[in-house]
Parts: sequence; C-alpha cells; structure tokens
Amino acid sequence: MSSTSAAPLLECRGVTATFGSLVAVDHVGLSAHEGETIGIGGPNGAGKTTFLDLISGLLPLAEGEIFFEGKPVGGKPPHRICHLGIARTFQLNAGFEELTVLENILTATVFGRAHGASRGLFYSHAELERAEALLEEFDLAAKASVLVENVTVLDRKKLMIATALATKPRLLLLDEPVGGLTPPEIDEFIEVIGGLQARGLTIILIEHVMRFLTSVSTRAIIMHHGATIYDGPPKGIAHDGAVTEIYLGSSAEAMRQAEAQTPAPS
Ligand SMILES: Nc1ncnc2c1ncn2[C@@H]1O[C@H](COP(=O)(O)OP(=O)(O)OP(=O)(O)O)[C@@H](O)[C@H]1O
Ligand SMILES: [Mg+2]
Repeated sequence: MSSTSAAPLLECRGVTATFGSLVAVDHVGLSAHEGETIGIGGPNGAGKTTFLDLISGLLPLAEGEIFFEGKPVGGKPPHRICHLGIARTFQLNAGFEELTVLENILTATVFGRAHGASRGLFYSHAELERAEALLEEFDLAAKASVLVENVTVLDRKKLMIATALATKPRLLLLDEPVGGLTPPEIDEFIEVIGGLQARGLTIILIEHVMRFLTSVSTRAIIMHHGATIYDGPPKGIAHDGAVTEIYLGSSAEAMRQAEAQTPAPS
C-alpha cells in the first residue's frame, strides 16, 4: 500500500498541452506514490491520452514540470524516459506485426537497455530467459513463434504489457488496457493487473470500463476538458455530483447498486 508521506515517485505540476488554440491538458497536477494504482476516467477528448503522452515524452510540455524520482524529466525524449523507468502501453494495439510474439518482447528488451543498445536484435541468454519468463507469466508461451498480426486482441493487450515490462519499469502507464475486451476477458485482466501490483509496480491507467477501473485502482481521477474534476477513492466517483452529471450519467446509479452488493474490503 502506498505511503503518502514519502516523496512521490512521479510528480506533475501544472502540466499543460496545447494543439493550436486547443488546451488539451490544462494545468494538471498529480503526485503518484510508490505502489499506487491510479485509474483515470473521463469523457472522450478529456485529455487522458494526451496526459500520458506528456509523461512518456511523446508530446512536448507547453507549460509545467514533471519529476520522476525527484528529478525533472519534462522535455526528455521518450527513450530516455523509458530508460529512467517509465514504460507505457497504447490505446490502439501497438506492436511489430511482422515479428513474432517472442521477437516483440526481445525488441523491447534491447530497446529498454540504457546501455549497450545494439543495432540488431542481439540479446544474451539471460535476456532470452527473462523474455520467455514474461511469456509464461502472461500465458503467451504457446504463441511465442506466432506473428503478432495473427494473435487475438486479448493476447495483443497482454503482449503490450509484457513488452513494457521487458524494459524494467518502476512506473507503468496503461492506456485503456481492457478497451475492446469481452466481460470474461476483462475479469482475466483484473487478475493481470493484480500480478503487476504484486510485483510492486506503480501504475497509472486510463479506462472507460468503470467496473475495471474501480476494482483495480487504489485512487481514481476523472478528467474533463483537460482538467481534473475528481481525485479520490474509486468508490466515490459514482457518488460525486459533477462526475455523475458530466461522465457517468445513468450508469452512476447502477454503479452505486453494484457497490452496495459488494462486501467492503476487510
Ligand atoms: N495530435 C493531435 N492534434 C490535434 N488535436 C489533438 C491531437 N491529439 C489529441 N487532440 C485533441 O486533444 C483533445 C484530447 O484528446 P485525448 O486523445 O487526450 O483525449 P482522451 O481523453 O484520451 O479521449 P478518449 O477517451 O476518446 O481516448 C481532444 O480534443 C483531441 O481531439
Ligand atoms: Mg485516449
């Protein structure tokens, strides 16, 4: 469990992104402490993905500062940020389609090396063993030699997380990890997140599927028009007037009923 008295692992202060005259992320502040799982929700276009793009260095900051382990990372290129210990997955399935599942993990392993990056896919025996262990962990071992273009959506989602882990992050950013999955697959993914938490990873994830977000997160944030409109316990979002009006609508009542039927954690 997180300790809010310790220095945050990640700290964002006044983080802002603009596209022309559009302020997509508007002075957002966020402190993520070691061991937290922060779930970000909010309507389409709220600025959730853009916020992760700023943290991972894919987009430049228009304003604000980002600190990781107390050091400024704003403005660093994505590969440097990855080498510092921040890895991410994407909203749309990303992967090297014409490489196999195992080759995708090995590519991430080589990319994730802060030192000794090579121009070819050269890896040590220990790195191969680690990649194979990741395949086992994510139930992908039987598909190791299948081309990524031929694997299911569920397996691609798992593979994105396995490749992120291959870069040895401390902070994992997940953009809609269960988007497009069926309810039983979402249940499976709740366990996948549990495994990541058991590894001690700090996680920031974006998700529209509120059942998933509230079950895996230790804290929830709701964004709207680039700003944070809620930051608190996941179970509180369905009771928040602004979140209900702007985002949840009639599903807030269903969430409250589901919560009432779920025993409180001991
Ligand atoms: N590359 C871009 N160029 C111009 N506008 C962009 C770009 N990327 C995002 N936007 C705009 O910035 C705003 C925030 O987009 P973003 O993708 O961050 O939203 P989101 O909260 O992730 O939404 P969704 O839930 O649909 O994924 C939107 O108005 C979007 O159209
Ligand atoms: Mg998005």
